[in-house]
Amino acid sequence: MDSDSHQGHQHQHEHKEQGATAQPGMHPSFMRVIQQKQRLKDKLKNIKHKIGVYSAKGGVGKTTVAINLAYALHQKGFKVGLLDADIDCPNVTMFLGMEDAKMDNHAPLKPVEKDGIKIASTAMLVDELKRPIMWRGPLVTKMIGDFFEYTDWGELDYLVLDLSPGTSDTPLTIMQILDLDGFVIVTTPQRIAGVNSMRSGLMAKRMNVQVLGVVENMSDGKPSKSTDEVVSSLGTEFLGSVKQRAKISELSDKGKVHVLEDKEAAQEFEEIVDKLTKN
Ligand SMILES: Nc1ncnc2c1ncn2[C@@H]1O[C@H](COP(=O)(O)OP(=O)(O)OP(=O)(O)O)[C@@H](O)[C@H]1O
Ligand SMILES: [Mg+2]
Repeated sequence: MDSDSHQGHQHQHEHKEQGATAQPGMHPSFMRVIQQKQRLKDKLKNIKHKIGVYSAKGGVGKTTVAINLAYALHQKGFKVGLLDADIDCPNVTMFLGMEDAKMDNHAPLKPVEKDGIKIASTAMLVDELKRPIMWRGPLVTKMIGDFFEYTDWGELDYLVLDLSPGTSDTPLTIMQILDLDGFVIVTTPQRIAGVNSMRSGLMAKRMNVQVLGVVENMSDGKPSKSTDEVVSSLGTEFLGSVKQRAKISELSDKGKVHVLEDKEAAQEFEEIVDKLTKN
């Protein structure tokens, strides 16, 4: 993104936050969220762009898209961080073949660097990866807040966030407390994915988070009717397709990154990144 559009985003955010400043007499929990948002804005001021990869539907390829987006941005010369914001089922480390990576459990948390990208995940904090994380909403909300307050990302051009599915605690908290540039919504050609992607985009808009565009994953190469509907109903841009290919899941199982291993995937993500960064 050029500096003009970055200023445009900033202006939008400032405008959005007018009237959402902590006021005397405001409900304490609302006040806390606003204060936390302000704190995080200061804390994360060295990160130029924060982009969430999201869909309310599970299994559409959010993690796959988030990882490849991060790598494709890095290949363009940007400084990139990747946050596994799926607290319950953190899959990023597995997809990157770094299941043994650990972060020191003391603030400031230091992301682990791989291939020049700074990566942080709760999987790096939990001793036994296979022990399921079963937390109720308030704890998940606290964990996400802590993750941002105590992680030292340094200077970044882009922080890519891999979100969990659903429309409750994790995505909601991220929309509330972070000043995101916006979401890349992932869908598949199926109508059921389209309907849920639309739901995700509408939720984001209600929370005043911009929808930056839609990626059709598991595609046959041409956006389906359902994907076209998602794009037009959200009034956003179609960023590109990622074809359905057996190689994609095979490479993930081996902890390998598609854009590094597969020319077709590299081209697909280059197109997505070009569109995403031109705005
Ligand atoms: N284009 C594709 N072609 C073939 N397989 C794919 C493709 N994209 C993703 N997959 C496979 O589909 C499965 C789900 O992908 P992924 O984990 O990225 O989805 P997700 O939306 O993050 O899921 P969750 O909602 O559980 O977080 C994985 O096994 C992945 O390897
Ligand atoms: Mg995932």
